Amino acid sequence: MIVLGGTSEIGLAVVRELQRGAAREVALVGRNRESLESAAEELRAAGCPQVITVELDALDLDRHAEGIERAFGELGGGDIVVLAVGVLGERGGLPKDVAGAVEVMQVNLVGAGSLLIHAARALRERGGGTIVVLSSVAAERARRSNAVYGASKAGLDALAQGLADALHEEGVRILVVRPGFVRTRMTTGLDPAPLSTTPQAVAERVLDGLNGGADTVWAPRALRLLMLVMRMLPRPLFRRIKQ
Ligand SMILES: NC(=O)c1ccc[n+]([C@@H]2O[C@H](COP(=O)([O-])OP(=O)(O)OC[C@H]3O[C@@H](n4cnc5c(N)ncnc54)[C@H](OP(=O)(O)O)[C@@H]3O)[C@@H](O)[C@H]2O)c1
Repeated sequence: MIVLGGTSEIGLAVVRELQRGAAREVALVGRNRESLESAAEELRAAGCPQVITVELDALDLDRHAEGIERAFGELGGGDIVVLAVGVLGERGGLPKDVAGAVEVMQVNLVGAGSLLIHAARALRERGGGTIVVLSSVAAERARRSNAVYGASKAGLDALAQGLADALHEEGVRILVVRPGFVRTRMTTGLDPAPLSTTPQAVAERVLDGLNGGADTVWAPRALRLLMLVMRMLPRPLFRRIKQ
């Protein structure tokens, strides 16, 4: 397994959940050596027989090809990639920090999108595999409180769906995961939204999706119906929701 965003709490929960079913050799790919090493220690303690780390920043687009190849190369292959890179950024309406807003879009869409394309190419060259893409319910309908994050996730989600259709006859499967509010360091200090959940519960939904052959899963499951309704709400009505 290769985790892009190798320190992500959700990404690591997915590894631990899959590790329960079969021993996993794992490459953790991320931007910070120390936090990657402590995540690797945690996975070794959870029973993963081999955990390697590869330093790679999502913003360093020129190094993506080399970084992904290094992860596959040092691991001696790979058949599941989890794309968990993401930042939440400033909340509220019009961003005060424009550079920060642009960086959120660069990390979540351009950086993560580039990693997704490189990972898909690497898997196809090796005969196939599965990519789990951490999208968000925010991708389904942009809200006033997180327009920038929502836009970036909508772009990534669309890219993942299009690539899934393009590659499904070539052995590369892409599972799009749309969690709601997950209690991780990304959401520390925020009031939990309704139906808030945990990394472990998201990991269980990922496993369900992988085993059931799904293209998309929501976490928790009930969000699927809720988002169907939200997507269909007329704008004047949607605007009244102050979230
Ligand atoms: N938590 C939620 O409520 C929630 C809901 C829906 C979707 N998601 C999505 O789920 C994914 C995982 O989130 P999480 O909750 O597990 O949060 P997290 O623990 O903060 O994980 C985010 C990951 O992205 C990495 N990252 C950020 N910027 C990067 C960059 N420039 N280059 C490389 N890596 C970078 C972080 O690395 P560092 O350790 O170096 O910062 C970390 O590994 C994200 O895509 C997020 O958008 C989260």
